[in-house]
Amino acid sequence: MLLTINKPQVPPELLAALTNARRIVVFTGAGMSAESGIATFRDKPDSLWAKFNTREMASPDGWRKNKNRVWAWYEGRRGAVLQTEPNAGHVAIAELSATLQNLHGQPVQVDVITQNVDNLHERAGSTSVTHLHGSLFAPRCMACECPGEFIPGEPDQSLMSLDPPRCSHCNSYIRPGVVWFGEAMPQGPWRHAEDLVDICHVMLVVGTSGIVWPAAELPINAHNLGKFTAEINPAPSELAKYMKVQWTSSAATGLPALIEELKKLKP
Ligand code: OAD
Repeated sequence: MLLTINKPQVPPELLAALTNARRIVVFTGAGMSAESGIATFRDKPDSLWAKFNTREMASPDGWRKNKNRVWAWYEGRRGAVLQTEPNAGHVAIAELSATLQNLHGQPVQVDVITQNVDNLHERAGSTSVTHLHGSLFAPRCMACECPGEFIPGEPDQSLMSLDPPRCSHCNSYIRPGVVWFGEAMPQGPWRHAEDLVDICHVMLVVGTSGIVWPAAELPINAHNLGKFTAEINPAPSELAKYMKVQWTSSAATGLPALIEELKKLKP
Protein backbone atom coordinates (compact mmCIF):
# COMPACT_ATOMS: atom_id res chain seq x y z
CA MET A 1 0.00 0.00 0.00
CA LEU A 2 1.28 3.46 -0.86
CA LEU A 3 1.64 5.77 2.13
CA THR A 4 1.01 9.42 1.38
CA ILE A 5 2.58 11.94 3.72
CA ASN A 6 1.07 15.39 3.47
CA LYS A 7 3.86 17.80 4.19
CA PRO A 8 2.55 21.16 5.35
CA GLN A 9 2.49 23.62 2.48
CA VAL A 10 4.51 26.67 3.53
CA PRO A 11 2.84 29.87 2.24
CA PRO A 12 5.24 31.38 -0.35
CA GLU A 13 4.32 34.97 0.70
CA LEU A 14 5.53 34.15 4.20
CA LEU A 15 8.83 32.76 2.92
CA ALA A 16 9.36 35.90 0.83
CA ALA A 17 8.52 38.24 3.72
CA LEU A 18 10.89 36.44 6.10
CA THR A 19 13.67 36.47 3.53
CA ASN A 20 13.40 40.26 3.22
CA ALA A 21 13.02 40.96 6.94
CA ARG A 22 15.83 42.06 9.24
CA ARG A 23 13.69 42.23 12.38
CA ILE A 24 11.07 39.59 13.14
CA VAL A 25 8.72 39.36 16.10
CA VAL A 26 7.22 35.99 16.98
CA PHE A 27 4.15 36.50 19.18
CA THR A 28 3.12 33.29 20.93
CA GLY A 29 0.31 31.89 23.06
CA ALA A 30 -0.59 28.62 24.72
CA GLY A 31 -0.95 26.74 21.41
CA MET A 32 2.82 27.14 20.99
CA SER A 33 3.39 24.74 23.89
CA ALA A 34 0.39 22.46 23.28
CA GLU A 35 2.48 19.86 21.44
CA SER A 36 4.88 19.79 24.38
CA GLY A 37 1.93 18.54 26.42
CA ILE A 38 1.01 21.77 28.20
CA ALA A 39 -2.72 22.43 28.27
CA THR A 40 -4.07 25.55 26.55
CA PHE A 41 -6.52 27.82 28.35
CA ARG A 42 -9.69 27.66 26.34
CA ASP A 43 -9.72 25.68 23.10
CA LYS A 44 -10.35 22.14 24.35
CA PRO A 45 -12.70 20.48 26.86
CA ASP A 46 -9.69 19.67 29.05
CA SER A 47 -8.13 23.14 28.75
CA LEU A 48 -7.27 24.99 31.94
CA TRP A 49 -10.17 27.45 32.14
CA ALA A 50 -12.64 24.65 31.38
CA LYS A 51 -11.38 22.77 34.44
CA PHE A 52 -10.45 25.55 36.87
CA ASN A 53 -12.17 28.72 38.00
CA THR A 54 -10.25 31.85 36.98
CA ARG A 55 -11.55 33.78 39.98
CA GLU A 56 -10.21 31.11 42.36
CA MET A 57 -6.89 30.41 40.64
CA ALA A 58 -6.02 33.57 38.77
CA SER A 59 -7.17 36.65 40.63
CA PRO A 60 -5.92 38.68 43.59
CA ASP A 61 -9.17 37.81 45.37
CA GLY A 62 -8.64 34.06 44.89
CA TRP A 63 -5.14 34.44 46.33
CA ARG A 64 -6.40 36.40 49.33
CA LYS A 65 -9.04 33.74 50.04
CA ASN A 66 -6.92 30.60 49.67
CA LYS A 67 -3.18 31.11 49.28
CA ASN A 68 -2.32 27.46 49.89
CA ARG A 69 -4.63 26.21 47.13
CA VAL A 70 -3.42 28.81 44.64
CA TRP A 71 0.27 28.22 45.46
CA ALA A 72 -0.17 24.45 45.10
CA TRP A 73 -1.83 24.93 41.70
CA TYR A 74 0.98 27.09 40.31
CA GLU A 75 3.61 24.77 41.76
CA GLY A 76 1.78 21.88 40.06
CA ARG A 77 1.89 23.76 36.75
CA ARG A 78 5.60 24.53 37.23
CA GLY A 79 6.20 20.84 37.95
CA ALA A 80 4.34 19.89 34.77
CA VAL A 81 6.43 22.31 32.69
CA LEU A 82 9.66 20.91 34.15
CA GLN A 83 8.62 17.48 32.91
CA THR A 84 8.09 18.64 29.33
CA GLU A 85 10.52 19.53 26.57
CA PRO A 86 10.45 22.30 23.97
CA ASN A 87 8.74 21.02 20.82
CA ALA A 88 9.97 21.25 17.24
CA GLY A 89 8.17 24.60 16.90
CA HIS A 90 10.12 26.19 19.77
CA VAL A 91 13.35 24.83 18.27
CA ALA A 92 12.48 26.20 14.81
CA ILE A 93 11.91 29.70 16.22
CA ALA A 94 15.29 29.53 17.96
CA GLU A 95 16.87 28.57 14.60
CA LEU A 96 15.12 31.22 12.51
CA SER A 97 17.71 34.00 12.83
CA ALA A 98 20.71 31.81 11.94
CA THR A 99 18.79 30.17 9.09
CA LEU A 100 18.04 33.54 7.49
CA GLN A 101 21.57 34.84 8.07
CA ASN A 102 22.99 31.76 6.36
CA LEU A 103 20.70 32.46 3.44
CA HIS A 104 21.57 36.10 2.73
CA GLY A 105 24.48 36.98 5.00
CA GLN A 106 22.69 39.86 6.74
CA PRO A 107 22.06 39.92 10.49
CA VAL A 108 18.48 39.13 11.46
CA GLN A 109 17.04 39.83 14.90
CA VAL A 110 14.26 37.50 16.07
CA ASP A 111 12.41 38.63 19.20
CA VAL A 112 9.86 36.39 20.90
CA ILE A 113 6.99 38.08 22.73
CA THR A 114 5.06 35.45 24.62
CA GLN A 115 1.91 35.29 26.71
CA ASN A 116 3.14 31.94 28.02
CA VAL A 117 4.39 31.54 31.55
CA ASP A 118 6.48 28.45 30.76
CA ASN A 119 10.19 28.57 29.89
CA LEU A 120 10.17 26.48 26.71
CA HIS A 121 11.31 29.25 24.34
CA GLU A 122 14.37 29.85 26.51
CA ARG A 123 15.07 26.13 26.84
CA ALA A 124 14.88 25.77 23.05
CA GLY A 125 17.58 28.43 22.69
CA SER A 126 15.70 31.67 21.94
CA THR A 127 17.76 34.50 23.43
CA SER A 128 15.29 37.40 23.28
CA VAL A 129 12.08 36.40 25.05
CA THR A 130 9.67 38.93 26.57
CA HIS A 131 7.05 37.48 28.92
CA LEU A 132 3.92 39.64 28.92
CA HIS A 133 2.06 37.59 31.54
CA GLY A 134 4.97 36.81 33.85
CA SER A 135 6.54 33.44 34.52
CA LEU A 136 5.95 30.37 36.63
CA PHE A 137 9.68 30.56 37.39
CA ALA A 138 9.78 34.11 38.79
CA PRO A 139 7.87 34.16 42.09
CA ARG A 140 8.03 37.37 44.10
CA CYS A 141 7.09 38.77 47.48
CA MET A 142 3.51 40.00 47.57
CA ALA A 143 4.54 42.92 49.81
CA CYS A 144 8.04 44.14 48.89
CA GLU A 145 8.14 42.50 45.40
CA CYS A 146 11.64 41.05 46.00
CA PRO A 147 12.29 37.90 43.95
CA GLY A 148 11.30 34.81 45.92
CA GLU A 149 12.85 31.36 46.27
CA PHE A 150 11.05 28.08 45.68
CA ILE A 151 11.13 25.40 48.32
CA PRO A 152 13.88 23.06 47.03
CA GLY A 153 12.88 19.83 45.30
CA GLU A 154 10.52 18.77 42.53
CA PRO A 155 7.12 20.46 42.76
CA ASP A 156 4.49 17.85 43.62
CA GLN A 157 1.71 18.06 41.03
CA SER A 158 -0.79 16.09 43.10
CA LEU A 159 -0.94 18.54 46.03
CA MET A 160 -4.18 20.48 46.52
CA SER A 161 -2.72 22.69 49.24
CA LEU A 162 0.78 23.95 49.93
CA ASP A 163 2.15 26.69 52.19
CA PRO A 164 3.70 29.46 50.07
CA PRO A 165 7.28 30.26 51.09
CA ARG A 166 8.06 33.47 52.99
CA CYS A 167 10.11 36.42 51.78
CA SER A 168 13.65 36.45 53.18
CA HIS A 169 13.54 40.27 53.46
CA CYS A 170 10.13 41.05 54.99
CA ASN A 171 8.62 37.65 55.82
CA SER A 172 5.50 38.24 53.70
CA TYR A 173 4.18 35.51 51.44
CA ILE A 174 5.83 34.74 48.13
CA ARG A 175 3.26 34.77 45.32
CA PRO A 176 3.33 33.24 41.83
CA GLY A 177 5.07 35.50 39.32
CA VAL A 178 2.22 35.46 36.84
CA VAL A 179 -0.27 38.17 35.91
CA TRP A 180 -3.75 37.55 37.26
CA PHE A 181 -7.09 38.75 35.93
CA GLY A 182 -7.68 42.29 37.14
CA GLU A 183 -3.95 43.03 37.40
CA ALA A 184 -1.94 45.27 35.11
CA MET A 185 0.74 43.69 32.97
CA PRO A 186 4.30 44.42 34.06
CA GLN A 187 5.07 47.76 32.40
CA GLY A 188 8.72 47.09 31.48
CA PRO A 189 8.00 44.00 29.32
CA TRP A 190 4.89 45.66 27.84
CA ARG A 191 6.72 48.80 26.74
CA HIS A 192 9.59 46.71 25.38
CA ALA A 193 7.10 44.60 23.42
CA GLU A 194 5.46 47.72 21.97
CA ASP A 195 8.89 48.98 20.87
CA LEU A 196 9.73 45.63 19.25
CA VAL A 197 6.49 45.75 17.27
CA ASP A 198 7.23 49.31 16.15
CA ILE A 199 10.58 48.35 14.64
CA CYS A 200 9.86 44.86 13.27
CA HIS A 201 9.28 44.06 9.60
CA VAL A 202 7.36 40.81 10.11
CA MET A 203 5.20 39.53 12.93
CA LEU A 204 4.50 35.82 13.15
CA VAL A 205 1.59 35.02 15.48
CA VAL A 206 1.62 31.44 16.79
CA GLY A 207 -0.99 29.58 18.85
CA THR A 208 -3.06 32.29 20.48
CA SER A 209 -6.81 32.83 20.56
CA GLY A 210 -6.10 36.58 20.51
CA ILE A 211 -8.87 37.41 22.94
CA VAL A 212 -6.90 38.55 25.96
CA TRP A 213 -6.17 42.26 26.15
CA PRO A 214 -4.01 44.21 26.05
CA ALA A 215 -1.70 41.46 24.69
CA ALA A 216 -3.90 41.04 21.60
CA GLU A 217 -3.33 44.69 20.77
CA LEU A 218 0.21 43.92 19.62
CA PRO A 219 -0.65 41.95 16.44
CA ILE A 220 -3.36 44.50 15.66
CA ASN A 221 -0.81 47.31 16.08
CA ALA A 222 1.56 45.42 13.79
CA HIS A 223 -1.19 45.22 11.17
CA ASN A 224 -2.09 48.91 11.57
CA LEU A 225 1.57 49.86 11.21
CA GLY A 226 1.72 48.01 7.88
CA LYS A 227 3.97 45.14 9.04
CA PHE A 228 3.73 41.78 7.32
CA THR A 229 1.61 39.67 9.67
CA ALA A 230 1.09 35.90 9.53
CA GLU A 231 -0.69 33.49 11.84
CA ILE A 232 0.10 29.84 12.45
CA ASN A 233 -2.84 28.18 14.15
CA PRO A 234 -4.85 25.01 13.36
CA ALA A 235 -7.99 27.20 13.56
CA PRO A 236 -8.20 30.87 12.52
CA SER A 237 -8.13 33.04 15.66
CA GLU A 238 -9.77 36.37 16.47
CA LEU A 239 -6.65 37.94 15.01
CA ALA A 240 -6.98 36.24 11.61
CA LYS A 241 -8.63 39.29 10.04
CA TYR A 242 -5.50 41.33 10.80
CA MET A 243 -3.20 38.81 9.12
CA LYS A 244 -1.82 38.86 5.59
CA VAL A 245 -1.44 35.08 5.84
CA GLN A 246 -3.47 32.65 7.93
CA TRP A 247 -1.63 29.36 7.85
CA THR A 248 -3.72 26.47 9.11
CA SER A 249 -1.03 24.43 10.76
CA SER A 250 0.15 23.42 14.18
CA ALA A 251 3.26 25.04 15.67
CA ALA A 252 5.33 21.88 15.82
CA THR A 253 4.46 20.96 12.22
CA GLY A 254 4.48 24.31 10.45
CA LEU A 255 7.50 26.02 11.99
CA PRO A 256 10.04 23.23 11.25
CA ALA A 257 8.63 23.01 7.71
CA LEU A 258 9.25 26.74 7.38
CA ILE A 259 12.90 26.33 8.41
CA GLU A 260 13.29 23.41 6.00
CA GLU A 261 11.94 25.51 3.11
CA LEU A 262 14.15 28.50 4.01
CA LYS A 263 17.19 26.19 3.99
CA LYS A 264 16.33 25.09 0.44
CA LEU A 265 16.28 28.66 -0.91
CA LYS A 266 19.28 29.89 -2.90
CA PRO A 267 21.00 33.10 -1.75
P1 OAD B 1 -5.90 30.04 24.44
O1 OAD B 1 -6.12 28.77 25.15
O2 OAD B 1 -6.92 31.12 24.60
O3 OAD B 1 -5.76 29.77 22.88
C1 OAD B 1 -4.91 28.76 22.40
C2 OAD B 1 -4.82 28.89 20.89
O4 OAD B 1 -3.85 27.96 20.45
C3 OAD B 1 -6.09 28.62 20.12
O5 OAD B 1 -6.28 29.63 19.13
C4 OAD B 1 -5.83 27.28 19.45
O6 OAD B 1 -6.48 27.13 18.18
C5 OAD B 1 -4.33 27.32 19.27
N1 OAD B 1 -3.66 26.01 19.21
C6 OAD B 1 -4.02 24.85 19.82
N2 OAD B 1 -3.13 23.88 19.55
C7 OAD B 1 -2.18 24.44 18.75
C8 OAD B 1 -0.99 23.96 18.16
N3 OAD B 1 -0.60 22.69 18.30
N4 OAD B 1 -0.25 24.82 17.41
C9 OAD B 1 -0.65 26.10 17.24
N5 OAD B 1 -1.76 26.62 17.79
C10 OAD B 1 -2.52 25.80 18.54
O7 OAD B 1 -4.45 30.56 24.86
P2 OAD B 1 -3.82 32.04 24.75
O8 OAD B 1 -4.26 32.72 23.52
O9 OAD B 1 -2.37 31.91 24.99
O10 OAD B 1 -3.40 34.71 30.49
O11 OAD B 1 -4.49 32.75 26.00
C11 OAD B 1 -4.12 34.07 26.30
C12 OAD B 1 -4.07 34.28 27.79
O12 OAD B 1 -5.31 33.83 28.38
C13 OAD B 1 -3.03 33.45 28.50
O13 OAD B 1 -1.74 34.05 28.50
C14 OAD B 1 -3.57 33.40 29.90
C15 OAD B 1 -5.03 33.11 29.61
O14 OAD B 1 -5.93 33.53 30.58
C16 OAD B 1 -3.08 34.82 31.79
O15 OAD B 1 -2.97 33.84 32.52
C17 OAD B 1 -2.90 36.23 32.25
